[in-house]
Amino acid sequence: MTIMTLNKIFLDIFHVLPRQAFFAPGRINLIGEHTDYNGGHVFPCAITYGTYAVARKREDQLVRLYSTNFPDKGIIEFELNQLNYDKAHNWANYPKGMIRYIMESGFKIPTGFDCVIKGNIPNGAGLSSSASIELLTGVLLNGLFDLKIPRIDLIKLGKKVENEFIGVNSGIMDQFAIGMGMKDAGILLDCQTLKYEYAPIHLENHKILIMNTNKRRELADSKYNERRSECEEALARLQQKFPIEALGQLSEEEFDENQSLITDETVRKRAKHAVYENMRTLKALNELKDGNVEAFGQLMNQSHVSLRDDYEVTGKELDTLVEAAWSQPGVLGARMTGAGFGGCAIAIVANEEVENFITNVGAVYLDKIGYEADFYVASIGDGAREIDMEEAL
Ligand code: GLA
Repeated sequence: MTIMTLNKIFLDIFHVLPRQAFFAPGRINLIGEHTDYNGGHVFPCAITYGTYAVARKREDQLVRLYSTNFPDKGIIEFELNQLNYDKAHNWANYPKGMIRYIMESGFKIPTGFDCVIKGNIPNGAGLSSSASIELLTGVLLNGLFDLKIPRIDLIKLGKKVENEFIGVNSGIMDQFAIGMGMKDAGILLDCQTLKYEYAPIHLENHKILIMNTNKRRELADSKYNERRSECEEALARLQQKFPIEALGQLSEEEFDENQSLITDETVRKRAKHAVYENMRTLKALNELKDGNVEAFGQLMNQSHVSLRDDYEVTGKELDTLVEAAWSQPGVLGARMTGAGFGGCAIAIVANEEVENFITNVGAVYLDKIGYEADFYVASIGDGAREIDMEEAL
């Protein structure tokens, strides 16, 4: 989808041309899963799939939003003084929540605006289409009204929309990756301190493939919040001995020696994943810096095993894709990415094997699951930003 067609749609709907254009990516997480809300490290990157918007300020207080992904919802309208969650507003609650929290944090939005949005991230695939819309709205408001809201504030407000406006208790990884993404780089983020560093990813001989289970993953309805509370329980047990604020502060040795403080076996397994996955993420970064992509791939595989056996968030669709991927030639590593319970997995595959890989893994999946998986080559791109309309036209 190009901006040109978005312009045309805008003209058809609103009978004027838009003035500015914006883009926010989706994300994949290379390693460090279910560690963000445990005060650990994550290593995501922004991808070139994402959400586009074209927009134009209005003279009055009305906001009118249209998404080409949800044509049946039509134009969604509200005034700037009507910013409550409204179930009927469906997808538009994400931009609405952003507008509300930006205004509540003291930034003045003088007028309403018209906006057309189009995303090419598959919905519900776990590539953060919702965080993409949140950050898209943030850069759009910054761009239309010259608000100069610092990037880190947009990231935190996006998370607040997710947690308080929508009601999903997610961590900060998705908004951070989408807000701070950089072409051809992963972002190592310490979710406890928000310190981060970029690590260049130059896989000349390999591609990152996204494998979509096409099983819808409803975060709010899923076991996500249950995992969070299991981790909180584990933390409370470990705090009897350690003055820690998060599981991410423990080493593997400290965990191993003291795991008996956690009496419930399930809770113990959850905590083990959180601690080991955090350390794996740091090891993975070091391997990458040393150019050891094979070792990086092995750590990805271990991450999946831990998410499958200890954290139990994979399910047969993700396991089928990932396990089929492991047995293909030219594969450095494969794992689920994002929250799990369906959604997507990723694999790092040698360039010359990509076609065979898709044929073989696709066939195994269809045979075992009964419907098709989709495959996309991921390119690592920049974070949310205003884009040049002229250039795009
Ligand atoms: C979802 C959440 C993130 C993170 C991942 C799991 O994507 O939005 O905050 O917890 O799951 O790593």
